[in-house]
Amino acid sequence: MKIVLTGVAGFIGACTAGRLLDQGHEVTGLDNLNDYYDPQLKRDRLSLLFDRKGFQFVEQDVADSDALLELTSAEAPDRFLHLAAQAGVRYSLENPRAYVNANLVGFANVLEACRQNRVAYLVYASSSSVYGNNPKVPFSEHDAVDHPLSLYAASKRANELMAHSYAHLYELPVTGLRFFTVYGPWGRPDMAPVKFARSIVRGEPIPVFNRGNHQRDFTYIDDIVDGVVRVTCDRPVSAELAQKAGDDPALSAAPFRIYNIGNGKPVQLMDFIATLEKHLGRKAQMEMLPVQAGDVLETWADCSDLERDYGYKPGTSLDEGIAHFVRWFREYYN
Ligand SMILES: NC(=O)c1ccc[n+]([C@@H]2O[C@H](COP(=O)([O-])OP(=O)(O)OC[C@H]3O[C@@H](n4cnc5c(N)ncnc54)[C@H](O)[C@@H]3O)[C@@H](O)[C@H]2O)c1
Repeated sequence: MKIVLTGVAGFIGACTAGRLLDQGHEVTGLDNLNDYYDPQLKRDRLSLLFDRKGFQFVEQDVADSDALLELTSAEAPDRFLHLAAQAGVRYSLENPRAYVNANLVGFANVLEACRQNRVAYLVYASSSSVYGNNPKVPFSEHDAVDHPLSLYAASKRANELMAHSYAHLYELPVTGLRFFTVYGPWGRPDMAPVKFARSIVRGEPIPVFNRGNHQRDFTYIDDIVDGVVRVTCDRPVSAELAQKAGDDPALSAAPFRIYNIGNGKPVQLMDFIATLEKHLGRKAQMEMLPVQAGDVLETWADCSDLERDYGYKPGTSLDEGIAHFVRWFREYYN
C-alpha cells in the first residue's frame, strides 16, 4: 500500500513509518520540522528512515493547502495517516495560535486533500485529552466528551467533528485514534519520561504537579504502533446502520469511527517516578506543586472496541517499557 504519513519526524510518526516499511508498504512522510522541541531529535529519527526502501520525505507544512493538495494528487495514496499536530496541553496556554494553524487549519486541509483526491481512507490522531475530567472511568468512546480543558483538547475534539462532517457529506471513510500518554525510545522531550529522566540523572528536582496525585494510562510506543498499523492497513470503515448508530457518540450512519488506543492500566505518577528511579539507579528529588491549568487528573482507556474490531492487545508492562526507554535515553543522550 502507498501511505502518506504526516508528522513523520515526530515520536509516533517515525516509529509508525518504520513498522509500515518493515511490512513492505511505501511511505511518503511529511513534516515541517518545527522547533517546538529540538529539531535535531526529529532529524535523528528521520535518519533511521532515509535509506529504507519505499521511503521518501517531504519537508512541508500541513497548513499550506496548495502544497498538500499537490502532494496528495501526485502520490495518489491508498491511505492518509495524519499524525502531524501541535501537541502538548501546557504549551496551548502559551501559544494558542500554533494549535489553530496546525490542528484546525492543517486538519481542514487534510480533509480537503483526501476529498479532492478521493483517498480511500483517512486515519488521524486524536487524544485522550478530549475526555477532560469526565468522572466515569475507564473512558469510553461511547461517553460524551463536550468539556475540553485546554485548547489542545478542543482542537482534537474539533478534528473529530470535522471528520464526521466529511464522512457524512462526501462518504470519506475516516477513523480517529485517541492516544493515551505514549512513552518509549525516541520519546518527546516535552513529556514527563524524558523530562524526569534528565532531571534525575542531573540530580535536579523534578516538578511534580498536583503533588503526584495524577494517574496516567501510560502506553508503550510499540503497542501504539501496532494498533495504528492494524487500523490503517485494514479495510476502510463503513457506515453503521442509522438505527444502530442512534445517538451513540462513537457510531455513525456515516463511515466514521473513533477508538481509544491506550494500555488500559492507569499508573499513579509516583509509581511511574519510582519505576524510572529503579531503572536509572538513582533517586529523584521532587518539588511538589499544585495542579497546572488545563491538566486532567486521571486518564484510563477502555480499549475493548479496538480489541474487538482489530485484535489490539497492548502487551508491554510499565517495568518492561521503562527498561527499554532508559536504555535508549542513556545511549541517545550519553
Ligand atoms: N505522544 C502522546 O502521548 C500523544 C497523546 C495524545 C495524542 N497525540 C497525538 O499524536 C500525534 C503524534 O504525536 P507525537 O507524540 O508523535 O508528537 P510529535 O510532536 O513528536 O510529532 C508531531 C510531528 O508533527 C510535525 N508537525 C507539527 N505541526 C506541523 C505542521 N503544521 N505541518 C507539518 N508537520 C507538523 C512536528 O514537526 C512533529 O514532528 C499528534 O497528533 C499528537 O497530538 C500524542
